[in-house]
Amino acid sequence: MTREPYRVAAAGLPERVTVYEVGPRDGLQNESVVVPVEVKAEFVARLAAAGHRVIETTSFVHPKWVPQLADASELLAAVERLPGVRYPVLVPNERGLDRALEHGVQEIAIFASATETFANRNLNRTLESQFTMFEPVVARALEHGLRVRAYVSMCFGDPWEGPTPVAQVVSVGRRLLDLGCYELSLGDTVGVGTAGHVAALIGAFGGPERLAVHFHDTYGQALANTLAALREGVTVVDASTGGIGGCPYAESATGNLATEDLVWMLHGLGVETGLDLRSLVETSTWLATELGRPSPSRVVQALAAGLTTERDVKE
Ligand code: HMG
Ligand code: MG
Repeated sequence: MTREPYRVAAAGLPERVTVYEVGPRDGLQNESVVVPVEVKAEFVARLAAAGHRVIETTSFVHPKWVPQLADASELLAAVERLPGVRYPVLVPNERGLDRALEHGVQEIAIFASATETFANRNLNRTLESQFTMFEPVVARALEHGLRVRAYVSMCFGDPWEGPTPVAQVVSVGRRLLDLGCYELSLGDTVGVGTAGHVAALIGAFGGPERLAVHFHDTYGQALANTLAALREGVTVVDASTGGIGGCPYAESATGNLATEDLVWMLHGLGVETGLDLRSLVETSTWLATELGRPSPSRVVQALAAGLTTERDVKE
């Protein structure tokens, strides 16, 4: 049975896209029942086996703030880190960096807010003082030869402040890039962005250079928003296995863009990912069993239900 989309290339898209997998971090951080560390380690191993070359593995945040990821040290000790695969972790401050360095982490991600309210809720900082927290983290990480990615959250809108002014996102994002971060991931934390807004934001940055996109799918816009970003030239897209995820400090944040749905779209467009869709679907189904509920991914659901294409029927 064919388990891949029909491939019909479209003009104006990149030939290849890097899928930055956030399932073990953004996907799991919102799970209320603690997932055993062995299951997390198997999850990461399965993702690497499916072809992922970048897997955001966990967070060195305050364990009381995100209890699900309090086992970050144990997990890093349990994960076999394969050559050619990057295993970044989230780090908010110097205490988090110290913990990451103890485990030989080679890539970290800091995460800033584009809005005052979310900086306060997610980081216990003001918009301005979040930079005081991040500056020494990035400086020390670079001294240690680490790669540093930056997120900027609430890029399109914020549940407390409404639409986020584009100029404010660009200002926060530019400051993060200027610290020496190799990439800036534009986070639609609560999923309120739409395709025109995505194109306008990327345009306001002056183009796609060093930009990645990170969409949550609250209003079902994540794939459309991704396509808009690809048309602007973005080649790094964040996604989470099955579309699980959310942010504990933004109640309206639902799951991320599902990796399998993203890969289905990309392969259908003839865009290479290096990922094996079948393995991704198996991993998503396995994880769903571990979490005790069906995978939210539409592609996983369609394949599990045995829905076929016309070509399948002829085979
Ligand atoms: P704070 O309470 O202001 O921290 O939290 P503090 O600096 O005042 O320190 C208080 C105590 O915590 C101290 O201990 C520190 O050592 C300890 P004491 O001296 O009192 O015994 N501490 C830590 N312990 C372990 N690890 C640490 C750490 N830091 C301090 N790293 C902090 C500030 C930033 C730590 C806290 O607000 C926090 O952990 N926030 C993280 C929240 C979070 O993880 N949110 C989800 C991730 S963001 C997201 O999902 C969005 C994203 O996906 C993109 C998008 O969707 O847009 C990335
Ligand atoms: Mg997120």
